[in-house]
Amino acid sequence: MSQTVSYTRDGELAVVTIDNPPVNATSQAVRAGLLEAINRAVADDSRALVLCCAGRTFIAGADITEFGKPPLAPALPDVLDALEALPKPVIVAIHGTALGGGLEAAMAGHYRIADSRAKLGLPEVKLGLLPGAGGTRRAPRLMGVKPSLELMTGGAPISAEAARASGLVDRVTQDALLPAALAYARELLAAGATPRPTAAIVPVLDGIDTAWFAAEKTALRKSARGRTAPQRIVDALELGVTLPPAEAALRTREMFLELVSSTESKALRHLFFAEREAAKLPADCRDATRRTVERIGVLGGGTMGAGIAMNFAESGLHVTVIETDDAAAARALERIRSTWQAARAKGRLDDATLAKRLERVRVSTEFSLMADMDLVVEAIFENLQVKQEVFGRLDAVCRPGAILASNTSYQDLDAIAAATSRPADVIGMHYFSPANIMKLLEVVRGAKTAPDVVATVMDLARRVGKIPALVGVCYGFVGNRMLIPYGREAQMLLLEGATPSQVDGAMEEFGMAMGPCAVGDLAGLDVGFRARSSRSDRPDDPRWFRVGDMLAEQGRFGQKTGAGFYLYEAGGRERRPDPAVEQMIRDEAARLGVAQRAISATEIVERLMYAMVNEGCRALEEGIAQRASDIDLIYANGYGFPAVRGGPMMYAQTVGLGDVLARIRAFREQLGPRYWEPSALLVRCAASGESLP
Ligand code: 3HC
Ligand code: NAI
Repeated sequence: MSQTVSYTRDGELAVVTIDNPPVNATSQAVRAGLLEAINRAVADDSRALVLCCAGRTFIAGADITEFGKPPLAPALPDVLDALEALPKPVIVAIHGTALGGGLEAAMAGHYRIADSRAKLGLPEVKLGLLPGAGGTRRAPRLMGVKPSLELMTGGAPISAEAARASGLVDRVTQDALLPAALAYARELLAAGATPRPTAAIVPVLDGIDTAWFAAEKTALRKSARGRTAPQRIVDALELGVTLPPAEAALRTREMFLELVSSTESKALRHLFFAEREAAKLPADCRDATRRTVERIGVLGGGTMGAGIAMNFAESGLHVTVIETDDAAAARALERIRSTWQAARAKGRLDDATLAKRLERVRVSTEFSLMADMDLVVEAIFENLQVKQEVFGRLDAVCRPGAILASNTSYQDLDAIAAATSRPADVIGMHYFSPANIMKLLEVVRGAKTAPDVVATVMDLARRVGKIPALVGVCYGFVGNRMLIPYGREAQMLLLEGATPSQVDGAMEEFGMAMGPCAVGDLAGLDVGFRARSSRSDRPDDPRWFRVGDMLAEQGRFGQKTGAGFYLYEAGGRERRPDPAVEQMIRDEAARLGVAQRAISATEIVERLMYAMVNEGCRALEEGIAQRASDIDLIYANGYGFPAVRGGPMMYAQTVGLGDVLARIRAFREQLGPRYWEPSALLVRCAASGESLP
């Protein structure tokens, strides 16, 4: 028998166990083993087959590492068809996460029993795919068309109980799963149960017709803008309930293979693995004993401090927020309370959870409370001296071994650490706004940060639902550093003749959630202005961020003042072009002697993207970013970069590093060498044909 699939007998029952750690993905060996087991069960005198998995989970899906390689027989849909066709009852025992091809395998069985903690889902859409092993045919037969469409286009798993309520599983057990599954099988045999192939169920199509499917596609074009997989899922589902199974299977297979080779799926698979790679620690941190983190302090309860505190409390941790005076403390508490109350008003939170969360938050002005903390996250004003002063105070108060973290966006973490007598305990935890929602956390390792501090914070990040990426110290770390050339080029293009609407329009068409001018207006143009003003290394170039600076000097800070690059209705987010701004830019260009011209959307995208990519290559060269895929992860999760493009570095590799380099060289010719010197790493990889490291 195969190494990954075993076949044993328990009296009249055949027990087929898949054991392919870590998540029992249906690799070629599993598919072949399963088919062999099915054939054996057809031939022997067993009366029913129980399918289960060893280890931490039921099958969590097809083996993603096989996608994009030549397909290896037997194909999963064929194996599952054979399972469904078995002339004896097939009972599937589900624990852990039955996802994608895993749930499809379960649906190809005849009866399903699930552990009460199990989760079931069809997350293929998150990988730019559709359920390609019969899921689009079987799910609607078991649970109805609408709920299955939701499961497939949302991609989120549901609980065992919800699966039972929807018809996806027959029984949920709190007891040990395998004995319960064997007992269930015997009970079925005793009751004279026969095979119950899902294919034989007639789908219920009340009110569901061609127009209904078309309307769903239209809605998904809006809610899942720029994505192909959700559209194909609706198509496959329609085929699945309208065509004979064999024909539906054939056409669905074609669509699946088309999606596998799409850029969308390659990009989303790249980000899936990027997330897992980024979680891997450098060698010196891997085996470090983790420090205990239970009591957490947050300094500053402003925009970020409040969000960070909410994230900890939402994850079940107790948090003490310190503010400067009673009024600021009251504002911080109100910020937290009102955010959660708004969630409750929308039905996303119940009273009991709200009360529990509030119990975990304490807001105070008593700095000495930091003495008991295992971790303190500083989120006060963005000013080096102010931060150094506060780290000096933390050094005096905190217990030995406490981790001292800063949420600084740009300041030199090593200079902050130097204000303490324990730089090994100092680390950066760079959150993104809103900190209770945004998944990304840049974990900044200083020159002296201890390996166990890095390991502890990386683990903690995952514990509180963040996606961490470990980066080094430089101005702006990885994400904000790369944003500077991106913003610089956006503003150069304004002087050269593009309007804010053209720049934003081109980038939004490219897939960015918002263009750079609109983002500036949202974040507040005063923020960037202050950050730039405090830089001692500003380039001696009057064009550098000139438009943003002028707007800030005029008190046009963006949405919060009703005017920035655009105009806004009081309190509104809807932007309107402002002819006065366009005139102001023209006048300033004339004053600076910048010739204006018509600028194409292609040039806008190339200037912004390639400036950013070149800076990303430099961050790699300098070891500030560990991997190109970390940069992609950072951009997809912290900066609204279109996931379907996989991140800026994958985008550059999709275009071709040689072509990117050629354009950078052309810009160097056209615009001068100051900003367009290609990174040595880019030159090397483009010449050798290697991928970015
Ligand atoms: N194929 C190959 N490898 C997989 C995998 C898969 N489907 N799922 C997980 N892995 C690997 C991970 O890359 C990781 O490898 P590493 O240790 O070398 O980095 C390892 O398994 C453990 O994964 P996680 O670190 O993610 O473990 P967690 O316990 O945090 O999460 C999980 C487990 C919830 C199963 C999560 O891994 C997950 O969501 N996996 C993807 C599930 C999925 O998308 N399934 C659908 C696949 S597409 C499909 O089935 C097509 C079908 O319709 C034909
Ligand atoms: P904010 O101005 O909203 O909040 C700062 C808070 O700190 C204020 O409430 C202030 O009263 C309090 N404070 C000041 N000195 C203090 C002290 N000594 N002790 C206790 N509290 C003190 O600022 P915001 O936006 O929350 O930024 C905080 C930090 O987070 C900055 O370093 C910023 O660069 C960084 N950051 C900001 C992001 C953003 O999008 N706003 C994103 C990522 C990081």
